[in-house]
Order: sequence, then C-alpha cells, then structure tokens
Amino acid sequence: MGGDQDPTRALVTKSHLRPARTSITRSKIIYESKRQKLAVASLIQEFTILPAKLKEIKDHFKSEMVKGLAKQGETLAMVQTHILGRLNGSETGTYLTLDIGGTYLRVVLVELSQGSQVSTKQKKYAIDSQLKVGEPKLLFDFMASCIDSFLVANDAVIPKERQLELGFTFSFPVLQTGINSGTLIDWTKGYSCHGMVGKDPAEFLQQALLSRNVKVNVSALMNDTVGTLLSHAYQHPRTVVGFGLGTGSNGAYIERVDRIRKRDTAALGDDVEASAQEMVINIEFGAFDNERTVLPITMFDNKVDRKSLNPSKQLFEKMVAGMYLGEITRNVLLDMIDNRLLFRGQSSRKLGTPWAFLTEHMSVIEEDSTPELDEVRRVLEDNLGLGLVESSETPVSTNVLADSTDVEVPVQTSGGESQRGGAVTTLADRQIVKLIVELVGQRSARFAAAALGGMLEHTMGYTWARDEVEKQEGVDIGVDGSLYGFYPGYESDLMSGLEELFALEAGMSFLFAKEGKNEKLKDRVRLGRCLDGSSVGAALGAVLATRSAAQPPC
Ligand code: GLC
Repeated sequence: MGGDQDPTRALVTKSHLRPARTSITRSKIIYESKRQKLAVASLIQEFTILPAKLKEIKDHFKSEMVKGLAKQGETLAMVQTHILGRLNGSETGTYLTLDIGGTYLRVVLVELSQGSQVSTKQKKYAIDSQLKVGEPKLLFDFMASCIDSFLVANDAVIPKERQLELGFTFSFPVLQTGINSGTLIDWTKGYSCHGMVGKDPAEFLQQALLSRNVKVNVSALMNDTVGTLLSHAYQHPRTVVGFGLGTGSNGAYIERVDRIRKRDTAALGDDVEASAQEMVINIEFGAFDNERTVLPITMFDNKVDRKSLNPSKQLFEKMVAGMYLGEITRNVLLDMIDNRLLFRGQSSRKLGTPWAFLTEHMSVIEEDSTPELDEVRRVLEDNLGLGLVESSETPVSTNVLADSTDVEVPVQTSGGESQRGGAVTTLADRQIVKLIVELVGQRSARFAAAALGGMLEHTMGYTWARDEVEKQEGVDIGVDGSLYGFYPGYESDLMSGLEELFALEAGMSFLFAKEGKNEKLKDRVRLGRCLDGSSVGAALGAVLATRSAAQPPC
C-alpha cells in the first residue's frame, strides 16, 4: 500500500503516530432543536454496527471466501498468487521494487541481508491525476521514467554484477497467471485507464522499460497486501495475513492448496505433496457483498457509489477505505444542512465540491479534545469555509428554526459560538460534526474487524492454531496503510470489533485464555504495523521468483 499512504500521512495528525480518538460524550451534546436531536439519533442508529450484525457480516465473509476458492468469477476473486510455501528467513540480496497504488508511486532499492535485516533507499513520485484515467501507455511510461531517474540518481549504490530484478507491487485486482504475470480484472480507487482490463501490467511495465533501454527485469508481480504479508512474515514467521487499510482496503492470507477447489492442477499438480502445500491468496475483499445481502448500506453510501468511477463495484471498500470516508461524511453533512439541521442551513462552496472533505480532516476532528472543539472549528471554518457569510446576498440566518416542532430547545447563541469575520459555527454544529465523523470512522474499523475475523476463523486449524502449541503462540497480522497507521482510534476499534466477534465463537475461546488466566486478545492476535511493507514484500517476491526460476519444479 506504499503508493497509497502519503497524502494522509502528511496531514492527518499533528505529529505522532497512532493518535487517540477523543470521543464526544453523546449526552453532552447541546442540541439546538428536537428535530436536530432526532436526526442525530437516526444517524447513530444507521451507522452503528451492533455485535449480532457484525457477526452476520463476518459469517457471510467466510462463506464468500469458500465460494471464491471454488470457482473463478465469484464476488471475492480469491486470486491465486502462485506464491507457494513460506519464507524461511534465508532470503537475501538487493532488489528493486516499484510500488503503485493510489496517489504516489515509490521506487525502492531493498537490501535483504542475513538475519532478516532490511534496509531501503527510496524515492516517491506524485502521480498526475490525468495519468490515472488516460492511456495506459502513458502511465507505464511514467513508471519506467521514475525507475530510470532513480537508477541514475543512485548509480553509485546499484550492484553492477548482475541484471537488477524488480518486484512490481500493483495494488489493483489482477488475475495472476504466474508469479510475474497476470491480467487486470478491473481498475479500482479512482483509476480507469482505458483498454487495460484483461492486459498484463507486468508486461506493460517490461515493455516500457525496454523502450527506455532500462536494464531491469520484472520478476514478480504482486498485490500490495501480498507484499505486506511477505514483509511482515520475514520478521514474524507466524504471520498468516497481510491487511491493507489505506486509500483502498484488501487482505491476503496463507491458504492450504487442497482448500483451493478451483486450483489449476496442471500448474500445481494434484498429488498429496502439492495439496499439502500453502499458497498466498489475494482476497480482493473490496468487492465483498456487491450483491448487497448483508451490508447495512445507507443512502450516503449509495450517493458515494453512484458518483464514483466504478458504480456498483467495490461496495465494501467504499464503506471502509480512506479514499471514501471523507466523501461519505460530506454527504451526511450536506443532508443535515439541506434539512437546516447544521450551520443554519448554510453550506459552502468547498463542502459542495465532491471529494473536498478529506479523511485527513476527519482525523483532525477525531483528535480534538478541547472543550470548545477548536480544531473542529478550524477544519469547518478555515478549511471548509463553513459558517462564513460568503456574500451580502447570502446572509447567515439567525433564525434557525423554521419548523414549529423545533421550538422546544432554544438556539445557543453565546459561549460556544464562533464569530470571526461573520463566521458562525455553534458548539452544537461542531459537536454533531464530531459525532458524525466518529460514526463513519468507527463503522469502517468494525467492518475491517469483520473481514479480519472471517479470515482468521477460515484459516484457524489450517495454517495457524493447528495444535496446542500453535494455539498458545497465536498469530501475527501485518497491516499497512494510512487508516490503520494514523487514523485516531482505528486500531482499538478494530480490536474491540474482533473481541466481540471471537467472544461469540466457542471455537475461538482459546484466544482469550492462557493457563487458566484470561489473556488480552491482542497478545494472541498481534496486529503489526507494517508501513511500506508492500515494497519490501515485492523484493521478497522477486527472491522467490528468481529462486523458483533457478530450481524449476520436477
Ligand atoms: C483496492 C485494490 C486492491 C488493493 C487495495 C489496497 O481494493 O483493488 O488490489 O489491494 O485497494 O490498496
């Protein structure tokens, strides 16, 4: 997910990693009208995922995984990555990786040395938005040009004794046909270069490199979540899942080959030895429940979906991933404004602009612990121009309540009100915005918990927790992406969701108990922050690819 992270990183929080959420105390909200209070109560109901619903989503996720393993073309693509077996820690060498996912691409020189030591040298390049929707050739030429300039700039440290092998992290759904080949299933996350679906991105990159005379061999093609899994496993051998929670959302995990009913027996063999092997599967879970059977989709989610470049697709991703959370929130705010329930019914040009409310704004709002919500005010008034009188023709109404049902609660006009150059946001405005942001952020983390819970239950007893010793040792999960890494409270919401889910499953109770004592789930299910993991993982993929090329299967 390396290509995805950076926009949030810069803006998200004041400084530190993993900031805490400061939840709004719901009983302290000073509502300005009964109607406003009722509207907020209804939002709380719509966005809160109760434990029973969470379990239903997780159970459906699990059964969709099984379906996707049985047949090609199911909602969960369950892509066979052709990465067999696990790393053994002896992987060493210097490799180049290119990581493209969202806003940036990164070229990284990765050095893997004895003892699972990793050092990297990298450069990040912004991707022009035109390149994301134009001719694929232009996008791939851009990638090749970045590699070219990186190599020139780092000539002194590039090993010359052999051709450089490149691991290509391509964070989009690809049906893999080999460790360094595959065909694009669909673009996601706001990309839509025409004519590329069905084509091989590794081939496009290799051609672009050749035409620039850049001597680099594309030896591995992999999804970012697969890279995250590999890189975390390099240092934590009990890793079975790579999780991506950033601009997009997805997961990869280690599966037993005999459970992949759709497996290509010609390529893998069908004997006992092959069946006992393990293969990394890229779930592509952003598409989960595109059929809309279990997800409680709100009208705000539908609005986001309809205006997206890929309507009706990636529905789960559009409720979970960082690219969409701000836009969901913006739609909720606009609805409240249109109903004269926020900012005295006044919007702003900025808030009226699709995608202008960013997940970064949400992070700042989540973190605000000041009594008057000063940071929230800063985002709303300074960044989004809300509460400002924009011209003399659009005066801010002081008469908020046009509806006779509203008269019970008076408007608060002093103390909490901000008036800077005509700017007016009330404390109630700010409290409600903070609550809405919290609802959208928490829902995302709980959905992510349902997906992770599904993956862990599906694999339990097959690739981890196979015996008592493994049950005691627990499991590691590598997580990459800005949402997980930087969004306030995300990790703890995810963990509480998991706790709720596993508490409802007798088969998972071993995760809570240790020699008669209770243990914290997080000690057994260890979420490890794996920033930039996808690039290091791509280098490990290149090692595996060159290793298997050197020793072809008998
Ligand atoms: C989108 C892509 C997927 C990627 C994820 C995270 O869901 O389809 O391939 O892993 O974003 O970057």
